Amino acid sequence: MILLVGRAFIFVYISFGVNPVFGQSGCQTSYTNMAIDGNDLTSVSGPSSSCCQHCQQQTGCAASTWTSANGGICWLKNDTQPLYASTGAFSVILAPSADQTYGLKLVYNSTNLFTDFEFTTHGCCGFVNSVDKNTATGSGLIGIQNDKAYIGLDNVTVLPWNNTHGRNSVTLKSLHTLNSGLVILNVDHVPTGPGIWPAFWTSSQSWPDSGEIDIVESIWSYDHNQMTLHASQGCAMPVNDSKYFTGSFGRNKNGTAATDCWVHDPSRIYKTALKD
Ligand SMILES: *[C@@H]1O[C@H](CO)[C@@H](O)[C@H](O)[C@H]1NC(C)=O
Ligand SMILES: *[C@@H]1O[C@H](CO)[C@@H](O)[C@H](O)[C@H]1NC(C)=O
Ligand SMILES: *[C@@H]1O[C@H](CO)[C@@H](O)[C@H](O)[C@H]1NC(C)=O
Ligand SMILES: *[C@@H]1O[C@H](CO)[C@@H](O)[C@H](O)[C@H]1NC(C)=O
Ligand SMILES: *[C@@H]1O[C@H](CO)[C@@H](O)[C@H](O)[C@H]1NC(C)=O
Ligand SMILES: *[C@@H]1O[C@H](CO)[C@@H](O)[C@H](O)[C@H]1NC(C)=O
Repeated sequence: MILLVGRAFIFVYISFGVNPVFGQSGCQTSYTNMAIDGNDLTSVSGPSSSCCQHCQQQTGCAASTWTSANGGICWLKNDTQPLYASTGAFSVILAPSADQTYGLKLVYNSTNLFTDFEFTTHGCCGFVNSVDKNTATGSGLIGIQNDKAYIGLDNVTVLPWNNTHGRNSVTLKSLHTLNSGLVILNVDHVPTGPGIWPAFWTSSQSWPDSGEIDIVESIWSYDHNQMTLHASQGCAMPVNDSKYFTGSFGRNKNGTAATDCWVHDPSRIYKTALKD
């Protein structure tokens, strides 16, 4: 499911498979200063430019990592991961076959966003009062402007200091359920400021055991996106594994470092990309 709140212009494209980027002939994807750990089939001496061809000629080869030792070696791999940062290494991944490439499965835009998502009015999202579609439409919280979907917020209402809920807001939950894919969110603007928490995330029926991926969380005036993974207690992840990820573990309620896959991404692309 995709859930979404806040004010945004939204286009979501969902597709499956392997994403071709660029690279050597026959290897559309390449990574500089990245290596694939383990999964070696064999190794072949040669320059980095020869690795893709060596891989194509090796049964079971999916990718190759080149290292400069001993004049240059192509390590032929049976898998395309795990990738990690390694200065001087160069990795190529074989071009996917037709059935592995992305295909566009779902598009949400102003045509269908407000019909293919349901308005969640309870049990979600903190202090705000998530309203139904009629209320959201009537009060201008949602709308279509220049063929783009608009999800706004109430920046006018003044509530009593001891009100039991906050201002009206909009929470949308997709009617489609997905189990994998690449999701592309295209927003023109996300609001910022005190008390604001626009978000775009995936969740599941049995929370948190089936996981939650917080893709965008724009909290108050943070200058970074609070991307977070939630999982059940017992989710195994190497502690402080700076080799494979650049985030950090979250904290348990008692302040100790969480080791159950609650991970914070320190990405700071957010403010300049969306808020300004
Ligand atoms: C790749 O080879 C390793 C041994 O190097 C093996 O443990 C692993 O299961 C293989 N992976 C695949 C996807 O075949
Ligand atoms: C919405 O997406 C559909 C499917 O890609 C497309 O046919 C339609 O033109 C789009 N509508 C707008 C307003 O962009
Ligand atoms: C409330 O939001 C509207 C629409 O973005 C904007 O034009 C207006 O200036 C805002 N009002 C306040 C008090 O921030
Ligand atoms: C809120 O506070 C006012 C006094 O400021 C009081 O009259 C009212 O009963 C309170 N409401 C609630 C829901 O506590
Ligand atoms: C802190 O909380 C975690 C998760 O609930 C628990 O596993 C851990 O034992 C607690 N540590 C202390 C010192 O209370
Ligand atoms: C990870 O490492 C940092 C510094 O090296 C340390 O402060 C932190 O407590 C560690 N976290 C865990 C979960 O071990």
